[in-house]
Amino acid sequence: MIIAVDGPVAAGKGTLARRIAAHYGLAYLDTGALYRAVGLKILREGGNPSDPAVALAAAQRVEEIALTDPALRDEATGEAASIVAANTDVRAALLRYQRTFAKRPEGAVLDGRDIGTVVCPDADVKLYVTASAEVRAERRFAELKGKGVETTYAAVLADLLARDARDMGRGAAPLKKAPDAHLLDTSKLDIEAAFKAACHIIDTA
Ligand code: DC
Repeated sequence: MIIAVDGPVAAGKGTLARRIAAHYGLAYLDTGALYRAVGLKILREGGNPSDPAVALAAAQRVEEIALTDPALRDEATGEAASIVAANTDVRAALLRYQRTFAKRPEGAVLDGRDIGTVVCPDADVKLYVTASAEVRAERRFAELKGKGVETTYAAVLADLLARDARDMGRGAAPLKKAPDAHLLDTSKLDIEAAFKAACHIIDTA
């Protein structure tokens, strides 16, 4: 079984996808971490993420960065990731990795932006997880505060809206709901309620 989980930043899809994978005994891939790994590799080598040749070279050697590296979560890495994610050659290089992962015999859950539309268009179940920008910004703000990062709600909301615009507006595999994806709006749901709703969709699909 392949489950595709897509949605905008801070909608709760990562937490949800991890829980789904554990519950159904499926392998889990955070595809955003792959784009972050490309960004991090470039930053560590002092390169420019906007340079297409540099970005492609990093994508071809993405396995040199561990997907558990804590620096993947840094804001600077996220920024570089969002730049390389707009590059079609980078996306093509990472596509093979993701499709190979999806073919694991035990089945897989992949979360990202284009899993249901591009990476696994034949996924058994597709979820499009979203929430209002305000709710997502509140969640991200609380998370950053918990980590001791100095910021404001207004700054977090502005950054989130800018990322949404970039993810949805790019020409290469923009973020959008696949026509056959189930919409899961978590604005008024905590993680437990969102998980139950997702399981109901999966079990009745
Ligand atoms: O979900 P995230 O913040 O870790 O993703 C990092 C960046 O990678 C973000 O700008 C969107 C991009 N991305 C993508 O374009 N396609 C995916 N399947 C996953 C992430």
